[in-house]
Amino acid sequence: MSGAGTDSPASSSAAFERCLAVGGVALFPADTVYGLACDPSNRFAVERLYRLKRRRLDKPSAVMFFDVELALAALPELGARTREAMARLLPGAVSLLLPNPGGRFPLACGGDLSTLGLRVPRVPALTEVRWPVLQSSANLAGAPDARRLADVPERLRRAVDIVIDGGELPGTPSSVVDLRRYEDDGSWNVVRPGAVSHDQVAGALGWQFHFEPATYMELMRAEVPLFDRLQDEVAAASGRGARRILELGTGTGETARRLLARHEDAALIGIDLSGRMLATAAGELAQERVQLEARALEDPLPAGPFDLVASALCVHHLDAAAKASLFRRVREVLAPGGRFVLGDVVVPADPADAQTPLTPDYDRPSSVADQLGWLEDAGFLGAHVTWSAGDLAVLAAEVGGGGRHDR
Ligand SMILES: C[S@@+](CC[C@H](N)C(=O)[O-])C[C@H]1O[C@@H](n2cnc3c(N)ncnc32)[C@H](O)[C@@H]1O
Repeated sequence: MSGAGTDSPASSSAAFERCLAVGGVALFPADTVYGLACDPSNRFAVERLYRLKRRRLDKPSAVMFFDVELALAALPELGARTREAMARLLPGAVSLLLPNPGGRFPLACGGDLSTLGLRVPRVPALTEVRWPVLQSSANLAGAPDARRLADVPERLRRAVDIVIDGGELPGTPSSVVDLRRYEDDGSWNVVRPGAVSHDQVAGALGWQFHFEPATYMELMRAEVPLFDRLQDEVAAASGRGARRILELGTGTGETARRLLARHEDAALIGIDLSGRMLATAAGELAQERVQLEARALEDPLPAGPFDLVASALCVHHLDAAAKASLFRRVREVLAPGGRFVLGDVVVPADPADAQTPLTPDYDRPSSVADQLGWLEDAGFLGAHVTWSAGDLAVLAAEVGGGGRHDR
């Protein structure tokens, strides 16, 4: 083990590179918290790093470069719009989720080769490092991040091959920004709030509509006067006695709260694009019954089987093809006898009923008839409307094969 705290950037960069080149694991200061690094193409080193921190091998890690130009050169498949966004955000305390059509850095991708996590921090001691590294925080899986070397578990400090001391670090982990759709439609999303504020990210990437957790209820009650009625109708259509629920678009937890009250023995997995909305939901819902995950409806759904999949006021953000695809995937994660309940804004039969204000390119409602058709195409039985008023409707549909929960 060698300490490099007082060395010049050239010598600590060289020591760091030498360590990684021979398959070692380095403990180093990022611009946020302490991290562990190894050669991302050396399976032995990657497995050792994961074992040291007791991280499951199917979990992804970020690939870190210490120079933006080197990162851009290593990912030639990325489109011009994404590259420009990267150049605006980096270097800095953000982790970017990028499309990975070339399947690069497979050992860092966990189970999903289509996504690459990228970091380019500002690290004075390592400015001369020319090679990418696989990096993960210097803690045991699930434990707090290390702001000082002394916060890194002693076991890790002793097991690594080199320790670079960067003194006391800011301590707030990077913000995780999803840019996987940025090339196609300019949309982006902060999936984990962190060191870089939402406004700073928005300043670099451009304005797009985002729900603000603090003003969400005020906005909804102003724009959707029947908001609470719709939520109650979704809960009512969900039957009774579900034990495993998947909710799509949990937001601040309004729908989840009602579903959990109605299905007293249920555990709920809630997904939503917005880590900020979910952070509010986490404070509102009974922790032991809820698991919240920042992911898009377009991504693979959490593994089932679920007795109930429910969603309120979220699916209308998808276009027609994405809705049809979602319904097929929902069908696949439902157990025999399971139910799908969808409460949302729709395109009403009478245009005069279109009262809910819509944001272009963000709200994409479809008609009830189209959605019932896609549910049927997906293999659901008896898709029907349980409630409707103006341009709001609740649809329910079932999977055949035996009543899992009472109605
Ligand atoms: C109007 S809120 C509904 C939240 C909650 N179900 C309720 O009724 O209060 C819509 C939510 O959908 C989320 N959302 C929008 N598009 C999404 C997508 N493609 N994948 C996952 N969540 C999405 C937004 O972040 C937001 O939290």
